[in-house]
Order: sequence, then C-alpha cells, then structure tokens
Amino acid sequence: MIPDSFIQELRFRCDVESIIASYVNLKRRGRNLVGLCPFHSEKTPSFTVYPESQSFFCFGCSAGGDVITFIRQMENLDYVEAIKFLAQKVGMTVPEDAVDDKASRLKTRILEMNRLTARFYHQCLIEPGGKPALDYLLGRALTPKTIRHFGLGYAPNDWRETLNFLKSKGFSEEEIQASSLCLRGRNGGLYDQFRNRVMFPIIDIRGNVIAFGARKLEGDGPKYLNSSDTPVYKKSRNLFALNFAKNSKSDTLILAEGYMDVIALHQAGFENAVATLGTALTPEQARLISGYAQKVVVSYDSDEAGQKAARRAINLFDETGVSVKILKVQGAKDPDEFIKTYGAQRFKLLLEGSASALDFELDKLRQKVDLETPEGKVAFLRDCAQLLAGVNNRLEREVYASKIAQELSVDKAPLMLSIEDVIKKRTRQRQKQEKRDLRMYSQVSASGQRQAPAALQSKDLKAQVSQGKLLAMLLRYPDFYELVSRKLTPQDFTVEENRLIYEAMSARFARGETVDLLSLGAALTQEQMAKLSGWLASVSGMNFTKEDAVRYVDSILAQREQKTQTDIAQMNEEELNAYIHSLASKKKS
Ligand code: GTP
Ligand code: MN
Repeated sequence: MIPDSFIQELRFRCDVESIIASYVNLKRRGRNLVGLCPFHSEKTPSFTVYPESQSFFCFGCSAGGDVITFIRQMENLDYVEAIKFLAQKVGMTVPEDAVDDKASRLKTRILEMNRLTARFYHQCLIEPGGKPALDYLLGRALTPKTIRHFGLGYAPNDWRETLNFLKSKGFSEEEIQASSLCLRGRNGGLYDQFRNRVMFPIIDIRGNVIAFGARKLEGDGPKYLNSSDTPVYKKSRNLFALNFAKNSKSDTLILAEGYMDVIALHQAGFENAVATLGTALTPEQARLISGYAQKVVVSYDSDEAGQKAARRAINLFDETGVSVKILKVQGAKDPDEFIKTYGAQRFKLLLEGSASALDFELDKLRQKVDLETPEGKVAFLRDCAQLLAGVNNRLEREVYASKIAQELSVDKAPLMLSIEDVIKKRTRQRQKQEKRDLRMYSQVSASGQRQAPAALQSKDLKAQVSQGKLLAMLLRYPDFYELVSRKLTPQDFTVEENRLIYEAMSARFARGETVDLLSLGAALTQEQMAKLSGWLASVSGMNFTKEDAVRYVDSILAQREQKTQTDIAQMNEEELNAYIHSLASKKKS
C-alpha cells in the first residue's frame, strides 16, 4: 500500500491540467479545458479536463478519471507503476516497500520468461532439429545476419518442450500461463501454445521481449499465431520493429502489414519500417508513430484488403498531425515480394514516388466513374467536393480543386463553392450532434449507457442519475456526508457500481480520511473511476446546497420504495424483517 500522505503530496505536485497538457493539446473553455481525446479518434474535441475536481472525462468514449488513471491508460501502466511514473516526473520517491507489489513482480517475471524463451527458440532454430525452419527462412532470402538481428527462432514440434524449459528455469505454472507461452488444456494441464513454428520476438522500445508472433511452416492451422494480451503486452499499443526503427535518422516511418515485410525491408536497408501486430492500425499505434516521425508511408499489401486498411490508416493519421503517403506496390503482392523481385533500388523509387493520401483517395474516386461521360464527370466532382471538404487546410483545398478543374477542363469556382457548402453542412450537423450528445449525457443513466429518450422518463433512471450525481456531489462537498449517510445505506444504491463507489467513500469517511478522487483511486477500478469522473463532469460548475442533497436522496429512496413493492412478495422472512427494520430506522432520522 502506498501511504495516503504520499498520494496527497503527489496530488499537489501533479496538477491534472499540466500533466495532461504534456500529452494533449488543450484549449481553455470557460473554467475547463478541452482537446482531442487521446483514447479514441475524433475531429472535434469532446475530451474535457476539469481542474476544479482534478479530473478528466471524454464525452465521446466515456474515458475518465484522475491524473493517475490518465497516466495508466496513456502509458499502459498499473496503479503503482503510474504513481512511480508521476513521482519520478516531479522528483518524489515512492516508499520502497510499496513498489514491490504483486502485479509488478509478475510483469518482471513474464519479461524474464520471454527473454529466456526467445533465446531458447533461437537456439532451437540453429540446432539440427530446427533445420526445416532455418531452411524456410533462408529460402525466403533472409541472411543469417538478419535472422540474428531480429532474434528469430523456432518453436519445437512438441506439446511440452517450452513448458519443461520454463519449469526447469524455476517458473511456476501460474506465471507460465500468465505469459501466454503455454495454454491450459481442458484436462487442466498446460501445453505449449507455439509448436513447429518460426518465432518472431516482439520487442518494445526499452528492449524487453514482450510477446511473440509465430508463423507456421506447413500444414493446417492459422498462418500466424500471436501472443494474446498479457500484463506486459497489449497488441493495440505496440508495433513490430519499433525498437529498431526508433533509432533510424529518417523523419519518416514505413508502415507495413506483415512481420516478413518489415524484416525484408530492414534487410534491404529500410530500417525505419514497422508493422502492426496482426491487427488493423489502432489510434494508439497512430499516436505512437506520431511520436517518432513526421511522415509515414503506408506500404500495405496490394490486394483489396490491404488497400482498404490503408484508407483506414489515412483517417487515423489525419488526426495525429502526421502526414501520410500511400505506396502502391505494383507487380508484387507485398513489399517483401517486391524487394525480392525488383530489388531495393526500385523500392526506393517507389517510396519517393508514393502519392499523398489525397491523391490516393482521388484515384479511388476516379475508378468509380466513367470520366468520358458528363454524368461521370458530375458524379466525380460531387465526390471530390465531399472529399476535399474533409481537408482542413484551405490552401491545400484550393490546390487540389485547381488540379481537378484542370483535369476535367471545367471552371474551378463552382467546385470551390460546393466544397464550402459541404463544409458548412457538416459543421451544422456536428454542432447539432454535439448538442444532442450533451443533452443526452446530462440525463445519462448511472450505468453510463446512453438511453433512448423514452427511457429517460422512468423513475428508475431518475434515481440512477441521482445516485451518480450524489456521489459526485459528495466529492465536492464532503460536509454533506453526515446528512446523506443518516438517510442512505449502501444498499440504496441499486446500481452495483455506485454502491461500490459509495462504500469506498464511506470507508474513508469513517476513518476520518480525505475523500477526493485521487485518494479513492486505490480502492476503485478504472471503470469506476471513469464513471465517477463522468458524474463529476455532469455537475461541473454547479453549486449545491443541502436541499439539493436531500432532493437526490429522496429520489433514490423513491426508487427503492417502488422496487420493494414488487419485490416484497418474493422476500423470505429474514429479508422481510430486515426491510421493516430499515424502514423504521429511516423514519427516526
Ligand atoms: P508471409 O505470408 O510469410 O509473407 O507473411 P506476411 O507477413 O506477408 O503476412 P500476410 O500479408 O499474410 O499478413 C500480414 C500480417 O497479418 C502478418 O504478418 C500477421 O501479423 C497477420 N496475420 C496473417 N495471417 C494471420 C493469421 O492467420 N492469424 C493472425 N492472428 N494474424 C495473421
Ligand atoms: Mn508476405
């Protein structure tokens, strides 16, 4: 446990506004600050920071919490690690015995396990038993130097060899299972997840082996298997070969689809190539890339799926401020094959000639229509207006509009006008949507789900909103706790989440401790922190009196009474007695 006094000290030194501002571009709006949410993709800011309650909340994706929650999600850390991280930022030292907690010990063990296993797999590759795998890699034109550089390996064709290896190194079954190197079978025993596969260690920027990709050599089963998420690995937040690419001098990163593409690219001298890990690009990965490069060249497979994925990537990069180019691999399936067929020189030319994202999109639009016909031209111009309306830079819009007008031998002015029209229409729509969202949110149910307007009328929902608002109110006006606790028991919070939050608060009140978001953090889950921050957001800037508190309490009790009418018939004797007793005690107060 980290002492309360330490957390309070941290609270004073790590102002939520300044910490978040080092990750998110914040603009002041009234007493709060807004910016583009780092946890989901958006074009208009719905991420809000509340200095007053030292919290943040995103109205778009419902992420929320305090400064610790923020760092946990941003840096992928657990609670204690996040505190360490923040403490270091402001020059505080976490008391030692608090650091060595169970979760971070397990992480250290898994990293150790992964490191040893990567070495083990590499050893297996160069031993006689690994000959088919080694031949396979050499057959794909990888040099021994590349194989060593990437630490490639071979997982033996056996159900227990990795398991036995790990046990011989003193790892417990629990630890081994947590690493996802072995899985638990139906009979309860562990078995190796990766068998008879070429192994690609995935290494983070600090040099830790955090996971593995595994390609089959032949036979049935999926072509690639990847480690599932573990305490040290989230596939949505990492990139293959970023550990090497981050050192490249270039201001550009090449984003490829596959492990083999990246390895072939590095071998050919393009040491700034990375790949996502068997998934489509995520917002987190786009952000990660934006931390290392100003430009990115998306170099996906030439097939339909690859091109579709490229388009999605464009949208994500759009929001991070990284400029995107799309490389068209022509005459080959993917960069790996291209380099094998045409050589590195040709690939370099391809890179230099890669089109901007906008050109790529325009090309798609051209293919949709027949530009020889007037109808085709009109349809194309209409699509162009839609597309260019999404370009934020006015100058860029002008340049492209000119190019298109010239291409079709039409006047540029009408095209510009229709672009402006689309922009205006979208702005209106967005504003309307924002208003709707806000209204909806202010009536949001305590479960955090957006409800259909009809459902908002129900007493149930009103009570649930009262529960949430009351919790937020207690954080801002701890003095009201006295009064509230005399009227309400934790059971009156019919939404379990709210009940747990109320219990955590009560425990601190009872011990005479400070009750604020930050000190509650240790006792609440991240979801609970997010919900509570949402409620704080919903009462931001409002003032409350004791009368308001009473109103919320009554609304909560009204629901309870209503509920019991229907539940009462199903109560057993004991429950009935407890109920009668609780009514009697309420009357007294
Ligand atoms: P090669 O076929 O060996 O050249 O592999 P590649 O790297 O070119 O892979 P491909 O283009 O087929 O797929 C791109 C990436 O998607 C791979 O590197 C994997 O990360 C992932 N992937 C491909 N197949 C599978 C699969 O069956 N399961 C999973 N989970 N991921 C896959
Ligand atoms: Mn390939």
